[in-house]
Amino acid sequence: MNRAADQSEANPLREGLSTRAVPQPCSIVIFGATGDLTHRKLLPALYNLAADGELPPAVTVIGFARRPKSDDDFRKEMEEAVKKFSRQTVRDEIWKTFGQSIFYHQSDFSDENGFKTLAERLDKIDKERGTRGNRLFYFAVAPDQFEPILKHLKAAGLNQAREGSWARVIVEKPFGTDLASARELNRVIHNSFSEEQTYRIDHFLGKETAQNILVLRFANAIFSPLWNRRYMDHIQITAAETLGVEGRAGYYEEAGALRDMVQNHLLQLLCLVAMEAPTDLSADSIRDEKVKVVRSLRHFAADEVAANVVRAQYAEGAINGKPVPAYRSEEKVDPKSMIDTFVALRLHIDNWRFWNVPVYMRVGKRLPKSATEISVHFKKAPMVLFNKETNEANVLVIRIQPDEGISLRIQAKMPGTSFRIEPVKMDFHYGTSFGKASPEAYERLLLDAMSGDATLFARHDEVEEAWAFIDAIENAWSAKKNTPDLYFYPSGSWGPDEADELLARDGRAWRRL
Ligand code: BG6
Repeated sequence: MNRAADQSEANPLREGLSTRAVPQPCSIVIFGATGDLTHRKLLPALYNLAADGELPPAVTVIGFARRPKSDDDFRKEMEEAVKKFSRQTVRDEIWKTFGQSIFYHQSDFSDENGFKTLAERLDKIDKERGTRGNRLFYFAVAPDQFEPILKHLKAAGLNQAREGSWARVIVEKPFGTDLASARELNRVIHNSFSEEQTYRIDHFLGKETAQNILVLRFANAIFSPLWNRRYMDHIQITAAETLGVEGRAGYYEEAGALRDMVQNHLLQLLCLVAMEAPTDLSADSIRDEKVKVVRSLRHFAADEVAANVVRAQYAEGAINGKPVPAYRSEEKVDPKSMIDTFVALRLHIDNWRFWNVPVYMRVGKRLPKSATEISVHFKKAPMVLFNKETNEANVLVIRIQPDEGISLRIQAKMPGTSFRIEPVKMDFHYGTSFGKASPEAYERLLLDAMSGDATLFARHDEVEEAWAFIDAIENAWSAKKNTPDLYFYPSGSWGPDEADELLARDGRAWRRL
């Protein structure tokens, strides 16, 4: 693999407008093309990029799956999916051209010959459509399928790019189920593709607001002096969803909330909040700083887990006034399932900056609203001038979704002759300030992979460090197999009382969302 060839081409016309490298024409081969992710996320993202004029016209999509199907059948199926899930209404004139760039390749993942014919087909596409030998292989399949696909890609020589071209692989989560399996997965991938060729998706990193954390922290001089244990009291991160397991029991029964959301998305958000300023904006400089955060997480000893981590499962209840069943009554869920659909944690980053600044995280399904936010709670002002009751702390809230934006809670004097102090909010909303919709995370991430920019993808060491932290918790839970601490909460509530007690013990409370 020619590393120089894997570097992105800078476009001088874009200088000053954007720091992003230019996406290059390529073939995108999607393994698992008939699956949910392709329908809901990947094709809609590619269509929206095409509609916004962001996609190089030669980009060609090849769906690779087992079921026999013609190109036309696949195109029709994708058109329906895009019409259903696209953020913009599908325009016929755009679809006409975009639809013609979609092809279907039928083969079993274990059929060596299917990969040989794929290689031939890609060569042909290069000639006919101008994809220049660039290939992006998207693994939208369960991890147990990775190995045969990688093996056959290598056997067909598709892991190697020709001079002046590139070959890259995008890997979906879950990236393993624990440290050992993540290491094994990294080993298997690295047998065929180098780390520079590997793009591990964490779609939270593609969210506009997650990217903005770095801008907020490092392009505004006022926050940096406050961003440490001297001024911060604690940090909270909440990722709440009203949705339940939504037919994904097969996966979720093995994963649970801690593996599904904390190991990846929430720890990634924490890294962005807690990392030091990188030396530059290159992928490795940023990821070097992020990995130090996960490495600094205090691992729990088995007997510390119960006091710091609350796990729970949703019982029946109501969401937006509509009754919903308990997790155990959901389709394909074991009626005695002990899996967590909610986790709350108190964790510590053992470094100079955050020493003794606890981080409280909670994540759950079937909570009263869908919202993801980070809040930084600063220390209170000394209570020498105003009375105790009015003394609230400043809180900086980063709303990841929905209503993307940032607010700062400050104290203000209420108008009037008396001296009453009330908290008010200084509030920035993306929607009103910029008047334009943010792209979906997958749009940004696909474009970055086509540009050779791995900044918003997880590096192998980040993923492994995150698993090492999670394993300590999962191991403590599974050691108690017959009496695991699992609480239940009614659907539509903010989790079990024990999650509130986790903060109450420290004299704190969850922020009301
Ligand atoms: C996925 C999890 O990674 O993220 C899902 O597997 C979860 O369980 C989803 O619902 C949340 O993502 P978003 O972008 O909808 O907040």
